[in-house]
Amino acid sequence: PRVIFSGIQPTGIPHLGNYLGALSNWVKLQNTASPSDELLFSIVGWHALTLPQDPQKLREARMDILAVLLAIGIDPDRAVVFHQDHNPNHTELAWIFNCITPMGKLRRMTTWKSRLATSRNMGEEDAVDVDDGGLNLGLFAYPVLQAADILAYRATHVPVGDDQTQHLELCRVIADQFNRNFKGMEKLFPLPIQLNTPSKRILSLRDPTSKMSKSAPDTSSRILLTDPPSTIANKIRSAVTDSIPGITYDPVNRPGTANLLTILAACNYDNEDVQETAGRYVGKNHGALKKDLTEAVVELLKRPREKFEKLRTETGYLEQIAQAGAEKARSRSEATMVEVRKRVGLA
Ligand code: TYM
Repeated sequence: PRVIFSGIQPTGIPHLGNYLGALSNWVKLQNTASPSDELLFSIVGWHALTLPQDPQKLREARMDILAVLLAIGIDPDRAVVFHQDHNPNHTELAWIFNCITPMGKLRRMTTWKSRLATSRNMGEEDAVDVDDGGLNLGLFAYPVLQAADILAYRATHVPVGDDQTQHLELCRVIADQFNRNFKGMEKLFPLPIQLNTPSKRILSLRDPTSKMSKSAPDTSSRILLTDPPSTIANKIRSAVTDSIPGITYDPVNRPGTANLLTILAACNYDNEDVQETAGRYVGKNHGALKKDLTEAVVELLKRPREKFEKLRTETGYLEQIAQAGAEKARSRSEATMVEVRKRVGLA
């Protein structure tokens, strides 16, 4: 049986990249899982705190994300849905992992390097050997906490987007290091496998050289799961493509066009092969592609948006789901922690 774990930061409403790269896969895995598979999905507030957050906004985002997860089809009777910060086992395990994780590994994380480069206004390569640019320890240790999230449940499979690949590699390194340092009857931790969708990397609609992200200043660069049809239409209409006539799937030379095809393939035809999607646009232009894409995205988000609007007002219900999830998460991870404490000599 598989143990499937994943997480999302409560930093605003998820966008189409989050959905097509990860969240849609959570739902798909849930709906195709065998009865013995376990699923856990966490809203990772501690990770959000590694960058400055407005407390009021964070509070709202925590609840909104829970409502979004339920709205897209996560079933709390089938999957454990919970707030990371409701289960202190994550931070306890993270501390123990901190004590076996070489700092050099963390310095090589591209997320850290790019934050460092931004904070010091220099290239990623140059930033490696200079001081920490005034960044905080939490940001540096972010991937260790992520490893603890996953391994607290001894998860075997982690559905995430492409941008989490390096974090997952580090998670396996930490699991392996713990297994070597603290041997028992059997290896305590599995080496978790990353699960990707064909649309594992959705690009910004305004700058197709970078990924769609929650933090890009230009809000038209991303489509939020709660955007109304008119907003979706405007954002797709203004999406940057290229001036090459016709439609072909060529991610290297035509990243903007390729991105639109990737999104269409993912949302319209349940992960139709993107080349096939492109094949249907031979002899057509960007206008036709954008029109069909708008319809497909509007259709994709219609039901989730309606459900979300309804759910977000049901705060009592959401609290109840969060509490039930927290209890299950705590007791589920406690089994791991008892063994961890024993192996390291703290029991
Ligand atoms: P977060 O909150 O940034 O994103 C949530 C999920 O969305 C995926 N994603 C994308 N996929 C495709 N294209 C994009 N443009 C795009 N942008 C985001 C992310 O890969 C992710 O799967 N560190 C994680 C949260 C986390 C976690 C964990 C994940 C904490 N602990 C344990 C898995 C397991 C993050 O920041 O995700």
